[in-house]
Amino acid sequence: MTPSEPSPYAPYAPPPRRRRRRGVLIVLGGVVSLAVLAVGGFAVFIAVSLLNAKVDTVGTVDFDRPLAVPPLAESRVEADGTRVFALRMQEGESDFGAPRPTPTWGFDGDFLGPTLRATRGEKVRVEVTNDVGETSTVHWHGMHLPPAMDGGPHQAIAPGTTWKPHWTIDQPAATLWYHPHPHGETAAHVRRGLAGMFVLDDAGSPGTTSTDDGPALPHTYGVDDVPLIVQDVQLEDDGRLDENGSFLSPVGLLGDTILVNGTPGPYDEVTAERTRYRLLNASSARTFTFTFSDRRSFALVGTDGGLVEQPSQLEEIVLTPGERAEIVVTMEPGERTVLRSAPLPERVADSNRLAGDDDHLDVLELRAADRLTPSAPLPRRLAPAPDVDPDDAVRTRAFAVSSQAINGLEMDMSRIDAQVEAGTTEIWELSARDGSPHNFHVHDVQFQVLDVDGEEPSPDQRGWKDTVSVRPGKQVRVALRFDLPAGTDEAADTPYMFHCHLLRHEDAGAMGQFVVVPAGRGSDTPDASDEASPTPRHHH
Ligand code: C2O
Ligand code: CU
Repeated sequence: MTPSEPSPYAPYAPPPRRRRRRGVLIVLGGVVSLAVLAVGGFAVFIAVSLLNAKVDTVGTVDFDRPLAVPPLAESRVEADGTRVFALRMQEGESDFGAPRPTPTWGFDGDFLGPTLRATRGEKVRVEVTNDVGETSTVHWHGMHLPPAMDGGPHQAIAPGTTWKPHWTIDQPAATLWYHPHPHGETAAHVRRGLAGMFVLDDAGSPGTTSTDDGPALPHTYGVDDVPLIVQDVQLEDDGRLDENGSFLSPVGLLGDTILVNGTPGPYDEVTAERTRYRLLNASSARTFTFTFSDRRSFALVGTDGGLVEQPSQLEEIVLTPGERAEIVVTMEPGERTVLRSAPLPERVADSNRLAGDDDHLDVLELRAADRLTPSAPLPRRLAPAPDVDPDDAVRTRAFAVSSQAINGLEMDMSRIDAQVEAGTTEIWELSARDGSPHNFHVHDVQFQVLDVDGEEPSPDQRGWKDTVSVRPGKQVRVALRFDLPAGTDEAADTPYMFHCHLLRHEDAGAMGQFVVVPAGRGSDTPDASDEASPTPRHHH
């Protein structure tokens, strides 16, 4: 009984108001102090977590290992001209500098895979054998090809079996990549090491060879044309890969060990005046802002889907998971510089510390030899600019990405979210719905970024793209043309995917499916994922 309450046995008298108020105040005070304590404790906990959340490895990396360069995959050419590759997904272990070896997966090796290389117009077949004991798939990220060859979640490869997709290379010279895509397991399979590059050449392109019009970009693989597959991993004390990460991270697992082509603390012995680096962010969650320690500029020559129209000089480039950039770095004899990942530039977006945006990381040291092979000047023009005309668009679709859904719908392998008509152009409006950073990847097509938050795209987003950063509050509009890949006369019913390439989000359901149907059948949103009708329509 509180003091303010009258005794039930006494005749009724109005309670003394002041005392009652004081009683309420005392109780309130107690509740408030408890709450303050609780909130305060939580605030301290969050503050400490925030401080710890920032990773800074600048100056702490020894750069004492030569950069590994993935070998070029061997291939044979069959009588009909088909180039045939074989890849085996297998278990292994890697030395990432932990006291004990790290159990990893790789294609034809312990970690990552060989670089596949084919030329525009060529027929290819890849025979993929799964020896990792878990069902997986292999997706050709950035490739324009029939949906049944795409290697998405519908093309499962059971353990002990071989999958043999084949298609015709039907797109410009580009730096593509391959990785598993089993629904719900992509992050784990990629993080264990299943990833590799797929380089496309094009006989008429200065990316591949010099032409009548002028010189080529550096193109001697492993010498002045070097792949850089950049990943962050978190190592446990016993060497195993952490597979969970901090629960505070909105984006997924962020690691403090940076691997380049599977090498921790790598240096690259530079032997030419100009070196072309093919950067791939193969991390599952981390966004990198690549820049050099001396802020030297470099030439951006290619984006996800191929060469840009002309080189542009940049001091930094932001790559979200899945994105690629080809850059050319010029060095003087004997020079050294360090490729780093800097905090996210303000011009791009507000940084989210828990998403790793404030981190500062040493990546790779470049050491120029005392004598460098002379390099040709950079070609002035590299490729036609993307030419998707937004005025041709037959429809506009909106996709709002959250950490486990797109337009509020979780990925469902039996639901088609969008039906697109072959040969048509569409505009897709991409936004982030839940405050976390996201990105957006579309299978089969390379698209053109029209604008970001109403502004012209920056130089690094003006070329062909298949993956684009989508930050909270900044809508991205892209134009896509859905041509059928060469050798396909009929569009199929098998779907392609679109999804967030932050792999935890993708696995959790931030993915949808689209089909490309024959011209004349019309476009549609069969199961209502359109923002125009945000509540799913149910079939009765
Ligand atoms: Cu690189 Cu659907 O993925
Ligand atoms: Cu996401």
